[in-house]
Amino acid sequence: MEQMLKIRDMDTILLINNAKEVLDKNWLQGYTSPSIKLYPHQWSWDSGFIAIGYSYFDEERAMREITSLLKGQWFDGMIPHIRYNSLFENYFPEVSFWNIPQRYISLNSMSSGITQPPMITIGAYCYWKNARDSDKAKDFLKEVFPGLMKFHRFLYEERNPLKNGLIAIVHPWESGMDNSLAWDLPLSRINKQDLNNLPGYKRKDTEIVSTEERPDDLNYNRYIYLIELFKSLDYEQRLIVKESPFLVCDILFNTILCRAGECLIEMGRFLKDDVRCVEERLDTTKKSIQKMLWDEKSGLYLNYDLNSRSLIKKPTSSSFTPLFAGIPDHGQAEKIYGYINGVCQCPLDDANFAVPSSIRCEDDFISDNYWKGPVWTNINWIIYKGLKRYNYTNNAEKVKESMLNLISRYGFYEYFDPVKKKGCGINDFSWTAALTIAFAFNVP
Ligand code: DGY
Repeated sequence: MEQMLKIRDMDTILLINNAKEVLDKNWLQGYTSPSIKLYPHQWSWDSGFIAIGYSYFDEERAMREITSLLKGQWFDGMIPHIRYNSLFENYFPEVSFWNIPQRYISLNSMSSGITQPPMITIGAYCYWKNARDSDKAKDFLKEVFPGLMKFHRFLYEERNPLKNGLIAIVHPWESGMDNSLAWDLPLSRINKQDLNNLPGYKRKDTEIVSTEERPDDLNYNRYIYLIELFKSLDYEQRLIVKESPFLVCDILFNTILCRAGECLIEMGRFLKDDVRCVEERLDTTKKSIQKMLWDEKSGLYLNYDLNSRSLIKKPTSSSFTPLFAGIPDHGQAEKIYGYINGVCQCPLDDANFAVPSSIRCEDDFISDNYWKGPVWTNINWIIYKGLKRYNYTNNAEKVKESMLNLISRYGFYEYFDPVKKKGCGINDFSWTAALTIAFAFNVP
């Protein structure tokens, strides 16, 4: 508790206690479900954020969160985006829908067939940095380091089509920002006729959360189309990268990869491992982000569509995130900072500077629909860390304060509508709770 640098008042202490209760509720003896009702299984990038929250007050759970996820790692190194729990059946797509060939996974492993950003590496790093028992932390790092290295190697070997260190995602779910406005263009390549032969399926999410707040059916059909394609290619990465109509260098994925690479280097040096290849890869990815994802005209980073070999001219909140990994130079950082403070983004009202997921003045901004407008805690935490990294301390504090205000006013919602001013999606959402704690402790 000595690390509670910024906890000034009873309200914050109460908020932290409530956040811990949410995590207790979602803890399933080995991992934390993002939400027992809506997402009962273990999600990869969620677990990274959740482990960061635990690192401040429950080291045991931080460790278990990470080891549980790594148990689902594929033989080729991929960490799947969902590790299923057989106790829960009320989720679509269910594990059998993915039909993963046995050659990729250990017996009884229950897994999806795509990946997500390597937040788990950053979770392991925060656990290590915050651990009070340093011998135990060292043993733990020794145990998990090889799995994390293997995951990063997988990304660079299998998802690096231009061989320039820019990692490609093949499904919107791999970005975590499932129905981001930036994905509308690449997804439109899957046309309506392609969707005629999909297997019958029934969405479960819209039975729990209102339809307006979730991805629409057309998008959802396209997600399923891509899964069917990957199944037909027997989950051969080389073929998937060759055939997928959705093939994108995602800014956020590559930014998280860079920050995770920095963490891997520091952990590896501490373990006296040879990390030269990680350093080289990190350098290549950072340079390629600068060369290919920076758009001078808008003064922002944009996603890159590999199928048309062009930038997707649709900025979203992920356009600001490279600050988190120290990628922009001073001039670029100034432009991003100016944009975040511009009329399009903030402030929403006097008390609120949190950054929404899309640009507020764009026509297709929808304030309550999943990643098409709402404010998300994880992206704001990443932006907060990025602003701090570049010494925009005042604005970083405003982002943090407004996020904590939103959460204390409305609850631990999955996301928040910045126009109608309400919590959206599911309540008692784990990463909202975990990052409340990370915001409040404010270190490292
Ligand atoms: C969902 O169920 O909406 C998830 O985002 C898919 O990973």
